[in-house]
Amino acid sequence: MQESQSKVDSPAAEAANERGTSPDFVLENLRRATLMRLASVTSLEELEELRVEALGRKGPIAQIGKEFGKLTPEQKAALGKLLNSVKQELERAFREKKSRLEKEELAERLRREWIDVTLPARGVRPGSLHPVTQLQWEIEDLFTSLGFAVLDGPEVETEEYNFDALNIPPSHPARDMQDTFWLSDGHLLRTHTSPVQVRGMRRLGPPFRMIAPGRVFRNEEVDASHEHTFYQLEGMMVDRNVSVANLIYFMKTLLSEIFHRDVTVRLRPGFFPFVEPGFELDIQCLICGGSGCPVCKHSGWVELLPCGLVHPNVLRLSNIDPDEWSGFAFGLGLTRLVMMRYGIDDIRQLQGGDLRFLNQF
Ligand code: PHE
Repeated sequence: MQESQSKVDSPAAEAANERGTSPDFVLENLRRATLMRLASVTSLEELEELRVEALGRKGPIAQIGKEFGKLTPEQKAALGKLLNSVKQELERAFREKKSRLEKEELAERLRREWIDVTLPARGVRPGSLHPVTQLQWEIEDLFTSLGFAVLDGPEVETEEYNFDALNIPPSHPARDMQDTFWLSDGHLLRTHTSPVQVRGMRRLGPPFRMIAPGRVFRNEEVDASHEHTFYQLEGMMVDRNVSVANLIYFMKTLLSEIFHRDVTVRLRPGFFPFVEPGFELDIQCLICGGSGCPVCKHSGWVELLPCGLVHPNVLRLSNIDPDEWSGFAFGLGLTRLVMMRYGIDDIRQLQGGDLRFLNQF
């Protein structure tokens, strides 16, 4: 503009020039040009740039405003009106465009960030502990707090540890009660966790307290209450003057801790070659409440806790002098206890590996 002004001097051009720089013309131009450019703006950043350019402090409107002082009152009134109307029109146009762009941006974000919440999450799924493991850990915590060590033993055992050292010689009829799976090299799948008693006696020496949770195996006909594979938790305490009173104390502590309520128990004499006297501690069936169901074999009672005082022969076979030391032992049926606790009426569920069952715990 400046340049052409100095070169062009014909009256027509001058007039045109005058029109070209007159505030009315500038404003009208600004209005049209801005509205046109506004139409093609596609982002909020672009919009802001354009707004600053057209309506900002250094923009044409502000510029014209600065020169107001030079005008006559009539000119001021006329131009002021025009200036305001252009300004307002543009401002409204910017506002509308802004809200449209914001809506579009939101819609776009919603589309981009949409997720199907019904799809399974990627990566490792959170699992849960098997109910038997949960109970096992609870009992381990309890006995650890009572000064017991937690021992482990192999599932494939020697005949000596599983039977002989527990006062069950080869000809003993008790072997028939615990028929199991034999390996061709003479080892066997342990029928109970009691062999860990032997390992404990020989490893720790008296006095000691230990528990030994673990998996055991029997050649059983499988039904709702019998499995070939299940879990026991062995316990043994050897010290001076250990009596039936100590045994009963620990068993009561154990049961009230597990069930968080009073359970009805009964103690019957029970025979196991490795304890003398031996007991069968039964609890009233928690599934049927004692009226009889498949789990309690319709007797109302469930054998839960065989126990007794350690037989002197057993101590002697592991080099412990029965005149100096005595002890108690128990063999908790962990699997059966879990069934009692959760009201599971079929033992086969626990080893079945059905996630719909396991996910409930
Ligand atoms: N081991 C015995 C069984 O499995 C249970 C038991 C353990 C009994 C300890 C008495 C003492 O049948």
